[in-house]
Amino acid sequence: MDGRDLVRSVKAVGSVGAAQGMRTVRAAWRRRRADASGLPARGAERARVPGQVREVEPGPGGGVIRFSRSELRILVAVNGAVFWGWDGADPEPSYALAGRCPEPDPRAVLEPDKDGGWRVVAERVTVVVSRHGAVEVSTPGGVPLRRDLPPRWWEAAGGGPARWMQRSEVGADARFFGLGGRASGPRLRDGTYRLWNTDPGAAFAPGDDPLYITMPLQLVVADAGTHLMFYDNSWDGTVTLREGEEGAGSGHDRAGTAELRMDGGPLRCWVMVGTPARVLLTWASLTGAPALPPAWALGHHHARWGFGSEQEVRRIVEGYQERGLPLDAVHLDIDHYDDHQVFTVDTERFPKLPVLAEELRRDGIRLVSIVDPAVKAESGNAVHDSGTAEDAFVRDASGRVVRGVAWPGDAVFPDFTHARVREWWGGLYQERLAQGFSGFWHDMNEPTSFTAFGESTLPRSARHALEGCGGDHREAHNVYALCMARAGYEGLRKLAPQERPFVFSRSGWAGMQRYGGTWSGDVATSWPGLRASLALVLGLGLCGVPYSGPDIGGFDGDPSPELYLRWFQLGAYLPLFRTHASLRASRREPWEFGPQVLEHARLALLERRRLLPYFLTLAHLARRTGAPYVRPLWWSAPEERALRDCEDAFLLGDCLLVAPVLDPGADRRVVRLPRGRWYDTATGRAHEGPAQVLVDAPLARIPVFARAGAVLPVRGEDGELELEVWAPEPGRTGGGLVVPDLGDGWEPEIERYTARRHGRRVVVEREGEDGVSGPPHPVRVRGLHER
Ligand code: NOJ
Repeated sequence: MDGRDLVRSVKAVGSVGAAQGMRTVRAAWRRRRADASGLPARGAERARVPGQVREVEPGPGGGVIRFSRSELRILVAVNGAVFWGWDGADPEPSYALAGRCPEPDPRAVLEPDKDGGWRVVAERVTVVVSRHGAVEVSTPGGVPLRRDLPPRWWEAAGGGPARWMQRSEVGADARFFGLGGRASGPRLRDGTYRLWNTDPGAAFAPGDDPLYITMPLQLVVADAGTHLMFYDNSWDGTVTLREGEEGAGSGHDRAGTAELRMDGGPLRCWVMVGTPARVLLTWASLTGAPALPPAWALGHHHARWGFGSEQEVRRIVEGYQERGLPLDAVHLDIDHYDDHQVFTVDTERFPKLPVLAEELRRDGIRLVSIVDPAVKAESGNAVHDSGTAEDAFVRDASGRVVRGVAWPGDAVFPDFTHARVREWWGGLYQERLAQGFSGFWHDMNEPTSFTAFGESTLPRSARHALEGCGGDHREAHNVYALCMARAGYEGLRKLAPQERPFVFSRSGWAGMQRYGGTWSGDVATSWPGLRASLALVLGLGLCGVPYSGPDIGGFDGDPSPELYLRWFQLGAYLPLFRTHASLRASRREPWEFGPQVLEHARLALLERRRLLPYFLTLAHLARRTGAPYVRPLWWSAPEERALRDCEDAFLLGDCLLVAPVLDPGADRRVVRLPRGRWYDTATGRAHEGPAQVLVDAPLARIPVFARAGAVLPVRGEDGELELEVWAPEPGRTGGGLVVPDLGDGWEPEIERYTARRHGRRVVVEREGEDGVSGPPHPVRVRGLHER
């Protein structure tokens, strides 16, 4: 155990008491013992590479290339994605895929290439396999995007999973993004990133890695094009990234490299090529459309670990109401449980939860409940007893139920990789619905089990069903939370089919967007923490998870009024807009930071409410296209190198550019604008991009720009939908999409608008199947008299 582990475990258990200390020591030893007897020692290893091509067997969408010591299966799917797998690895079974593997594209065939290699030419990508097993991905025009060198395996002489390494090269100018939620992102600089979902134990800041959500997914943006590479393998591993360098003068270019090392599991991957929007669309078609949050989940949420009682919840809600501050959801943390036990209520402090929920609902406020996977290991606990009857809990290699330590003390963990267990767990949300909860906040599901030393999770030797394939925690760990999210989501769909489930989860893996979103976890209360919280939202969006947001004000400590306010202003433009903090942190209500902060926070809250129809449109579009709400500035111009490196501003959909203040004391900031005309929404002033502009960022607001020609759905003063139209540049047209949210169960049609200048007027029209017509909503034009 190093000092850091000790500090973390002490911090982790500090709030529950000293008795936990002894439990965590015992848990650590139990874990060690289980692994010593449950995992084979690796012993000597033998290295292997594919060798030379021997024969080829064409098949639908590609075929199989046999090498002397391995074989490679290539498949071009109808959605344009390309799969390849070594050593006979198939696309299925896979936790990432939303359903079955897409059909092969019959037009793609294996053909001989030069020097004894083979190639598959597809509509959007060409894949060339060299005779030694290097795989090169290039654009249809033949410009190389990536080259995966022949892989290398290390097989243990005594059997067991082979470790492997895949080294890849990308363009010298390429930038890496992705890998899940990384505090130091969104651009992933040189370094080694681990693929193992981890609770950092203490509040994290940039530099802390890994965190709760890791994914073997690289999004690579280069002059030659954008590609998404996903290695479909949930085992522990590392990715070492090194950006390339372009030769100066007559010097040579040095390629960028990504080196993936995995402790086991198949070497199989999917690659998608195209514009960023195309790539994310293909990714969503493969791994699932993002769940649509209910409309209220796009409003403001207030959470806290340590709402002591129903009275306190009422006091906070009244605080919002008396001050005219919009509030849409209140989250109850573990302290509302009876003795920290999941699916229970402390009826002394929360005696009439359903009544409270009903009162809040009448005021348009929903209750959200935390749900932890750990179940108190005690007979008499209803969840424990019903789970035991279902044989739901993870066992070790000798067949004993694995015990860990979590908030309720000694705990057992459901094996969510079993369909029967998911079904049982999903049914437990009935109790939550009966208490009046509308949404669910999955926590501690890496899974976290406090231990005094070593990793705070289950033993690696713990056994899991893995959908009937059987395996251990090395393979199941990274998909544990994904499967828990599935259990909750599918359970809720059955229990309340008329409502869109709201589930957001601290941990997860590729495909988690099918069940809901996430939040940034326990981010440190500091300016670097603020920056990290934006990095996470951007990075996760590029991994296909569009709905997330930070703990506004940071999770721990005591933010200065300025830091709190800047965080609040940023949060107002992120999909999940939630204040939350730890038990030991200072208060986070907007009125706790003085009258000036309160007034400015009110502006942010009101603006968020006004933008709600836009957020709903973005949610619908994310579901249909996989495009995140929050996008890097290079989203539509990945070839603009300066934009690739810009991490302090973002696009919110197609219409807005948000430039948060991320540094103390700033009342102005530089903003890099992509090509086109951008209006400063506060002043109406027009700026022509590409440019860097210095703009005011007074404490009252952060700079927000609207794209010329944007048609933005907003909430008018009467509460009805209104179109805010930003004047197109003379001689140009603009437009926008609007998806009116008709409530649960409806599949609304996308409304398409165009905006064009006609003299000193702007004409806005709706495009329909029967031609154009006037818009059915009031229109407010802005930017016409720009200075
Ligand atoms: C850890 C979570 O990240 C945090 O948000 C929550 O408040 C605590 N667990 C207590 O449940």
